[in-house]
Amino acid sequence: MSERALADSFGRPLGSLRISVTDRCNMRCRYCMPEDEYVWLPRESILTFEEIARLTGVFAAVGVRKVRLTGGEPLLRHDLANLVELIARQARLDDLAMTTNGLLLGTHAAALRAAGLQRVTVSLDTLRPERMIAFAKSARHADVLEGIAAARRAGFAQLKLNSVVIRGFNDDELADLVEFARTHDAEVRFIEYMDVGGATRWSRDQVVSQQEMLEGLARRYGAIEPVRPTGDGRAPAERFRLPDGTTFGIIASVSAPFCRTCDRSRITADGTWFLCLYAAQGIDLRERLRRGATDRELAGIIRDTWQGRTDRGAEERLGVADRAALYRIDALRADPHREMHTRGG
Ligand code: GTP
Ligand code: 5AD
Ligand code: SF4
Repeated sequence: MSERALADSFGRPLGSLRISVTDRCNMRCRYCMPEDEYVWLPRESILTFEEIARLTGVFAAVGVRKVRLTGGEPLLRHDLANLVELIARQARLDDLAMTTNGLLLGTHAAALRAAGLQRVTVSLDTLRPERMIAFAKSARHADVLEGIAAARRAGFAQLKLNSVVIRGFNDDELADLVEFARTHDAEVRFIEYMDVGGATRWSRDQVVSQQEMLEGLARRYGAIEPVRPTGDGRAPAERFRLPDGTTFGIIASVSAPFCRTCDRSRITADGTWFLCLYAAQGIDLRERLRRGATDRELAGIIRDTWQGRTDRGAEERLGVADRAALYRIDALRADPHREMHTRGG
């Protein structure tokens, strides 16, 4: 397959692929899975590890260099390290990472590292166990902390922590999370609460903007300076430095969307390919795969589709008057592909 650089209609490359390996989760975060019941993807539609690895190989052949495993909770997929090993054999990847809620990381961190996983990001919205019970319906805060410690011991580079900041819930914990990250040799990224599928209770007033977060931290620590971006400048987080040198990130998807540089797409666990977190429709790659398409044919579909990409979902949401949750619960039940936990966050 040829190596011609692939760009979408705004000149954005296809650089990064997020692979959701399961739509199931063992937490119920308020901003992602607030309901009591869910419609799951049919079991027979879930891609096997071999199918995922094959698709990853095709994506790598058309230019993808970064792969991130997500969920739901990716570690609910049995023997995930086997998939990591299959993907890690794709020599062309520069980066293989995973985003996890950490509950099962204590058990699996070492095996994942040995299999070739390079980086891990753990969601940690609060340092207070009782808040996690209220907010994520999980009493296993200690397991998350153990997962973070295990990731450190396993030797992952650049351990990151994700904290979705919600007014009235954890917006008083920013400094504590910065301190926690510093003492655990990790970097915390504060994420603006997004109005994505799943966030059915979203409202503008619960969003703590990047500016507000910076003002609050500056009151506590003194002047904060931006850190000049390294790498390809396509990461969603802007990074900052406190006077004592501690760094942290902010992902300002609501107040300052980064669609202009977005090089990412995502595959759901059933092989539906989405060009944007906010996209209404995906492309069914599973059906083509299972009907016997060759790698070349799949690569052709991916190329053609990416070249026509015009998505800039988060920027478009800026123009919505009376902005509220993107979907209501009945719309999510009608098509679980709209869920954040299906799309992989
Ligand atoms: P690296 O930059 O490789 O470290 O990973 P990441 O920050 O992309 O991965 P992570 O899974 O930690 O995602 C962090 C947050 O970015 C998530 O909470 C999402 O809310 C947000 N995010 C991820 N993908 C997208 C996207 O395509 N568009 C927008 N607007 N936000 C995204
Ligand atoms: N807003 C912002 N981030 C979200 N995530 C899930 N739902 C939302 C939302 N509504 C984040 C999780 C996780 C990542 C994969 O996606 O916190 O860190
Ligand atoms: Fe929370 Fe992630 Fe599970 Fe969603 S998928 S409920 S954000 S742990």
